[in-house]
Amino acid sequence: MKLRVLICVLICMGCKAVNSQGEITTTAKTEATAVKEMDPLATEASAYVGSKVCAGCHPENYEGWKTTLHSKMIQETNQPGALVADFGKQDISTQFSLNDVDLLVGGRFKQRFMKKIGDDYYMLPIQWNVATKEWVRYFPRDEWWVSQYPEDWQKRPTSKLCDGCHSTSLIGRGGKTPAEWNIACEACHGPGAGHVVAEASLGPGQGAGAKIINPAKLPFDRANDVCFQCHLAGRPPEGSEYPDRDYPVGYLPGDDLTKYKNPAPSLGMEGPESHEFFEDGISKKNRNQGNDFIRSKMYSRGIRCFDCHNPHSGKYTAMVYKPGNSLCLTCHSANSPAGPPERSISEHTHHKADSPGSQCIECHMPRIGKHAVKLESRSHCFDFDFVSPERTILYDHPNACNRCHQDKTTEWALRALKNWGGKGKWKWQRALQELREQVSTEERG
Ligand code: HEC
Ligand code: HEC
Ligand code: HEC
Ligand code: HEC
Ligand code: HEC
Ligand code: HEC
Ligand code: HEC
Ligand code: HEC
Repeated sequence: MKLRVLICVLICMGCKAVNSQGEITTTAKTEATAVKEMDPLATEASAYVGSKVCAGCHPENYEGWKTTLHSKMIQETNQPGALVADFGKQDISTQFSLNDVDLLVGGRFKQRFMKKIGDDYYMLPIQWNVATKEWVRYFPRDEWWVSQYPEDWQKRPTSKLCDGCHSTSLIGRGGKTPAEWNIACEACHGPGAGHVVAEASLGPGQGAGAKIINPAKLPFDRANDVCFQCHLAGRPPEGSEYPDRDYPVGYLPGDDLTKYKNPAPSLGMEGPESHEFFEDGISKKNRNQGNDFIRSKMYSRGIRCFDCHNPHSGKYTAMVYKPGNSLCLTCHSANSPAGPPERSISEHTHHKADSPGSQCIECHMPRIGKHAVKLESRSHCFDFDFVSPERTILYDHPNACNRCHQDKTTEWALRALKNWGGKGKWKWQRALQELREQVSTEERG
């Protein structure tokens, strides 16, 4: 009975795999057989059914996902609320109008624009920055792949450089056309045709989640890989068939990602400052959350991105499970073995309890990276060590304290911290030493 109801919903959602009698069609069955035969690498387009089919049996996950930005990455220009760029304000971009745009990309921090030419898409060389409400030029010059492409925006197809991470199924299959635009169910759960057929044919309760990946049931590193496939800067591995793609072709949820993508150079290591990383290997830009997170103690203790982020709800900023300090206090309440050791928040933060300076994320995940503009993207290293004023002196990148105390010097912040005591794992001594040496060299010079 329940199954019938579910299947009716499926039909209402326009499900191609189920006919009007509520039966799974032969094509779907054939597809499912094909999926089985290809297991575990079910990479054919037909293995993907699309989010509307999933919605039929998982309406809450679907409705929740619809409120996340994952479902709004690629939109039509006429979708309500989708266009945030102001094509009326045309300063540097007079050569293009909204008529040149076929699809919109993003819109929280910045918006870019896809134009269809032949059977592929290309990025118009303009970008709208949301925070400053400004047009800026957009033409990648520092990305690792630029030497493999001509200096012409019309020769850099998005199917090779972008779409894998902004759609569903291209990562698994390569190719040019995604099964579905946006980061939909099957981007994180893997191709679902086999699951749909199993569930619908076995009857309620019988399938019990057969043939689908639930990331929560994977070992923590494989689980994080599900997010890292898109949220970790990397390079195609040596000998890859796809040396010019900026996404891990062939990867499917559940796989070991390192077979398909090497983390970008300087992961956790010092190296020359680059487009992506500061000298100490800390991320300098957006979409590198994985590169930072791997370095954290939380990762080493088995925490996963989705312990904090809810893939099926956009209720709070950035899909977090709980807003503000309550998220962190889930695991870091007073006396928690995970720390901090102090008895109250203000004892730990040295700011009044209701001060912005007592918000965990302002000190432990400060906005030090570039998204559309500088100082917009949040660090995901967590350990204070990585964002301490000491780092500003040693590696010349922003620190948590002076993000707020902009009228004060780095040395002021260091001295304040020294007065706070604590374990000082972040070695302020070394930085003070360096400061003193600088001063005495200047004095001598
Ligand atoms: C015909 C109904 C049906 C359809 C369509 C369907 N599912 Fe399911 N799914 C179920 C049932 C029944 C279960 C087992 C009970 C539960 O966990 O809700 C399940 C379980 C799951 C689980 C949990 C598996 C586990 O091991 O914990 C995930 C994840 C899932 N489905 C994802 C999807 C995705 C993604 C789609 C679309 C590709 C989809 N489902 C389509 C019926 C369906
Ligand atoms: C960005 C990745 C991502 C997307 C997109 C996503 N999920 Fe999930 N899903 C997860 C993760 C991670 C879990 C495990 C969450 C947990 O238990 O902590 C999960 C769990 C589930 C479960 C089992 C637990 C439950 O909530 O019942 C179902 C069913 C499910 N997802 C269905 C869907 C459907 C349907 C869609 C599309 C409408 C979808 N998911 C989109 C990542 C995703
Ligand atoms: C390896 C995966 C990956 C590739 C390749 C990729 N992106 Fe993204 N993109 C992401 C992720 C993940 C985010 C969200 C990152 C964040 O907020 O830190 C994002 C965010 C964006 C945003 C901002 C969205 C917003 O709402 O502000 C734009 C615009 C964008 N990408 C354009 C592009 C373009 C253009 C290309 C190709 C030249 C590209 N991306 C290639 C993964 C990727
Ligand atoms: C197929 C690529 C892909 C996968 C897989 C993916 N993401 Fe994303 N994610 C993106 C892109 C692209 C954006 C930018 C969306 C936008 O701005 O419209 C994004 C945005 C986000 C955001 C910011 C949303 C906001 O409101 O600003 C969070 C948080 C996030 N992803 C977490 C996760 C987690 C956790 C997982 C794994 C469970 C995951 N993502 C898996 C591509 C992906
Ligand atoms: C799901 C549980 C969980 C949540 C939620 C959580 N943490 Fe953690 N956190 C841990 C664990 C476990 C550790 C490791 C403790 C240990 O082994 O010493 C840790 C460690 C830390 C550390 C110490 C890192 C180091 O290198 O010493 C900081 C700082 C931290 N977390 C900040 C945060 C912040 C900020 C938030 C909220 C955005 C947060 N945590 C949310 C579980 C969690
Ligand atoms: C004003 C900045 C600031 C704020 C806000 C802040 N912290 Fe910290 N936190 C620090 C500093 C500095 C350290 C390093 C202390 C040391 O070296 O002794 C630290 C260390 C930690 C540690 C590691 C403790 C250890 O013994 O290794 C954890 C866990 C932590 N903080 C969690 C939190 C949580 C949870 C919140 C929000 C309730 C929070 N912090 C808010 C500055 C801050
Ligand atoms: C300990 C909790 C925690 C973990 C683990 C965590 N995040 Fe976040 N993340 C946050 C918080 C808190 C924010 C900021 C929310 C806000 O701005 O209010 C955030 C913001 C983001 C954003 C939005 C862009 C930005 O710079 O603000 C993205 C994208 C994101 N996280 C992706 C990820 C991915 C991918 C992982 C795993 C590699 C991950 N996060 C792990 C807590 C976490
Ligand atoms: C999110 C913003 C924010 C961050 C991050 C922050 N503070 Fe503050 N800080 C404030 C505010 C606001 C006050 C005013 C008093 C209050 O609210 O507690 C303040 C007050 C202070 C004071 C006392 C008043 C003064 O100006 O002499 C000191 C010292 C201080 N902060 C040091 C630090 C240090 C060191 C860090 C980094 C570990 C830090 N703050 C991080 C916002 C911040």
